[in-house]
Order: sequence, then C-alpha cells, then structure tokens
Amino acid sequence: MSNAEDKNITQYEDKKISGGVFDKASLTALHTLARKGFFDELTGIISTGKEANVYHGTRGEQEIVAKIYLIETSDFRNMDLYIKGDRRFSGWRNKRQLVYNWAQKEFCNLNRVYEKIKCPQPIAIEKNVLIMGFLGIDGVPAPKLKDAIPGDPIGFLDTVMNYVKEMYWCDIIHGDLSEYNILNWDETPYLIDMSMGVMPDHPLADRLLERDIRNTLNFFRKMGVPNYQGKIEPEIIEWVKTPYKKEKKT
Ligand SMILES: Nc1ncnc2c1ncn2[C@@H]1O[C@H](COP(=O)(O)OP(=O)(O)OP(=O)(O)O)[C@@H](O)[C@H]1O
Ligand SMILES: [Mg+2]
Repeated sequence: MSNAEDKNITQYEDKKISGGVFDKASLTALHTLARKGFFDELTGIISTGKEANVYHGTRGEQEIVAKIYLIETSDFRNMDLYIKGDRRFSGWRNKRQLVYNWAQKEFCNLNRVYEKIKCPQPIAIEKNVLIMGFLGIDGVPAPKLKDAIPGDPIGFLDTVMNYVKEMYWCDIIHGDLSEYNILNWDETPYLIDMSMGVMPDHPLADRLLERDIRNTLNFFRKMGVPNYQGKIEPEIIEWVKTPYKKEKKT
C-alpha cells in the first residue's frame, strides 16, 4: 500500500467522519481495495445506518460509493432468512461471514441487473466493503424518490415496473423496493440497496415480489396514480412473470 493511500484513509479516520472509526476488518478491506485501484480516496459520508455506512469517494475522474456493511449492529436473524435458501451461498459459520455473504449478495445482484436497468455500477467487493458507481454529481447524491416527487408519476411508475420485470428475467427480485430505495435522478428512476435481492427459486421469492409491487404502488397511490396500467396486484405479478417473447406474440 502506498503512503498516499494510507494517508487518505487514515486522515479520514482521524476526522471521524465515519460516525465513529472504521473497525479493523473494514480498514483492511479498504486498504486492499485502494491498493488494487478500485478507489483513490474517500471524501465524505452520505449515510449512516444500522446495517451499513455509505461514503462518497473518487476513482480517477469517476465518483464512487463505498458501502461498508456493519458487522456488530446488523440484524443477523433477518439476514439469515435471505441467505438461507439462496443457492449462491453455502452457509456461514459466524456473524462476520454472514455479513460478508450479505455484501457479496448485493454485488452479485447488481452485476446481474446492471446491463438491464438503471442502478449503480458494481465495481468491486472485498469482505464487508462494496465499491460501486455514485449516482449524483459533485458529491451530491441523487435524492430518494420519497423526497423528490416525479413530475410525471405515471411515466416514472411505468419505468420502475419495467425494471421489476427486467430484474425478474435476470433472476433477481429486489426484495426491499420502496420510495427509500429508488432514487430520482433528473426524473429517471435508479434502484439501489439490492442486498436483500433473491432469485425466483428462493422460498421467500413470491412474498418479496408481492411486497415490492405493493410498496411501490402504495407510494404512487399517494401521488394520485391509482394503479399500474389499470392492473390490480395479481395481474401485475402475472405480467412480471410472463416471458417477453410470449408477451410479444399475444
Ligand atoms: N450508489 C449510490 N449513489 C448515491 N447515493 C447512494 C448510493 N448508494 C446508496 N446511496 C445513498 O445512501 C443511502 C443508504 O444506502 P442503502 O439504501 O444502499 O443502504 P441501507 O442498507 O438502506 O442502509 P441503512 O441501514 O443505513 O438504511 C441511500 O438512501 C442513498 O441516499
Ligand atoms: Mg436503503
């Protein structure tokens, strides 16, 4: 690790803008990621929470995000519900490993859907630290949908529902879709926070798909959009699950 890399992270620690300090595991992962060139420096904190802290940073000209999953405060019982039954993960022996799986899950989910829908660009994963593209400009993140009501709610909902369908056919159900995890960047929806995402063969898949659609519709209902293209929830689910080819024939 170069002195410069070391300094950028250590300085950051000293300023305590991390809402405390990084634990040793996160610091080691950050150093590895910086050494491999996945980011140059961290420049500010975007969000602190129970499960993760989110930082803004740079990688050359690119703005990036480092999402650091917290090992101590995470709700591991809830995480286990989603990891269990996900054939991509073979089990965990301690809480630390579970959180590493959780971070890996978000990275894998982003990779699966990135070409098909608007979401952060997955860049790298190391233990509990995920590096992804930043949605926003000059360190200012795009606002959450709940704080930035779209000018054309019908069109916005239409795009979100098409993302849900695209994701389903990439074998991913978001699992935590709501106005909190949809950003409104210049009137275009971007989906974030995919760590809960499961594959359609997961035992919770149907329940999560239903919840994603219900939560999204509930928000748009408050914006005066009564439903999605006249469909009620079971019809939307049927539409999501209908393959594109078949849809075009009918
Ligand atoms: N790629 C990104 N670009 C810009 N802002 C982002 C990005 N990822 C996350 N954010 C911001 O950070 C916030 C928290 O991120 P995210 O929803 O992924 O974490 P979380 O798991 O909900 O964390 P918490 O436990 O704090 O609720 C988001 O609401 C958003 O404002
Ligand atoms: Mg979130």
